[in-house]
Amino acid sequence: MKLDHLFSPGKIGNVTIKNRFVRSATAEKMATIEGFASEKLIKLFSDLAAGEAGLIITGGLAVTPSSTLTTNAPCIYEDKFIKEQKNLVDIVHENLDSKICAQIVHTGAQTGNKKFQPVAPSPIKPDNYNRIPRELTIEEIESVIIKSFVDAGRRVYEAGYDMIQIHGSHNYLLSSFISPFFNRRTDKYGGNTQNRTRILVEIYEQLSDVVDIPIIIKQQIKDFILGGLDFEEGKEITRILVKTGYDAVELSGGGAMVAPEGKGYPSIILKSKSDENYFLKQCDEIKSEMKGVPLICVGGIRDPFFAEEIIRENRVDFISMCRPFIREPDLIKRWHSGDTSRPKCISCNDCFPTIFKKSASGLHCAVEERKTLKKSKSSN
Ligand SMILES: Cc1cc2nc3c(=O)[nH]c(=O)nc-3n(C[C@H](O)[C@H](O)[C@H](O)COP(=O)(O)O)c2cc1C
Repeated sequence: MKLDHLFSPGKIGNVTIKNRFVRSATAEKMATIEGFASEKLIKLFSDLAAGEAGLIITGGLAVTPSSTLTTNAPCIYEDKFIKEQKNLVDIVHENLDSKICAQIVHTGAQTGNKKFQPVAPSPIKPDNYNRIPRELTIEEIESVIIKSFVDAGRRVYEAGYDMIQIHGSHNYLLSSFISPFFNRRTDKYGGNTQNRTRILVEIYEQLSDVVDIPIIIKQQIKDFILGGLDFEEGKEITRILVKTGYDAVELSGGGAMVAPEGKGYPSIILKSKSDENYFLKQCDEIKSEMKGVPLICVGGIRDPFFAEEIIRENRVDFISMCRPFIREPDLIKRWHSGDTSRPKCISCNDCFPTIFKKSASGLHCAVEERKTLKKSKSSN
């Protein structure tokens, strides 16, 4: 079986993508300490483009100074960040014809910057954080939060990005707005589904007035916590987002709290084949609601032949992967050249400390690093 469908072009809005492979947003911890795109970060994107991923989504760019997830996170909260972001985009565009999408994020209660008080729709603390967030006022939601997403979107557009992805997942700020667990507000941004989704609708409406590139979303489809967003409501939210005009939806879920069954995290440790493709079930149930808007499937996709099958059968429109590209930025080129063996990534999550440990040097595969160290020790 060939991978013809995976290597056929696809479209998101007016942007043609040369194949169906997406590099899912991956925090890199490779910007300068102030948040500018560094040479190291630009080199990573150049490698991903040379490795033939059709659409490369950046790790979340902070829309406010408090929105960073790690130290050395890339920022886009002022115009001063545009120049280096443009250098990054230009390298990708020069290198074959990959397309690049900026993910923009507000980390909300999960801010990685201790200098700032975390903010959230309601003062509800995620399990893995010590500080109780401050509840945002309506005035702040409208004139700070929504405005910062719109301004950030305008800046990445000016930097030449092909697309913008709003991070609406993993219990970060926008995801916590749609969650009945994290959002206990009683005003127009809380309560029923429509009200909790309002912030995502308003961001789209205001941003689409200032940019003419596709605006896509990584949407929380389920929180996997008691009292959190369930799939039925997640599906209703997808319907609202499609109706609003979002140009593609990547479904994800879980986040700050691990589900009782231990499977809530967006990057599940894959112990066997049966753990793979863990958001495909939700994609299958939502595809008919998409009204032609592309559906991007992420979460443990590892078998290229299975990926080919779900594209051929039109169950999803794009295949998105994260961890495999950390170990093999050239994975798609390898598959394209006929070596269709599975990714070398074993989905062990040892890559997380490489971005979350303050002293860590930035995103890389820790397994590969250990292997190299062992080799050099034995040859010494
Ligand atoms: C090191 C690391 C960093 C990540 N950073 C982000 C991020 O910045 N934004 C985001 O939406 N998801 C992020 N994710 C989640 C991935 O994009 C993806 O949804 C998840 O890992 C499942 O895909 P996979 O099984 O192919 O790894 C990250 C995951 C990892 C392992």
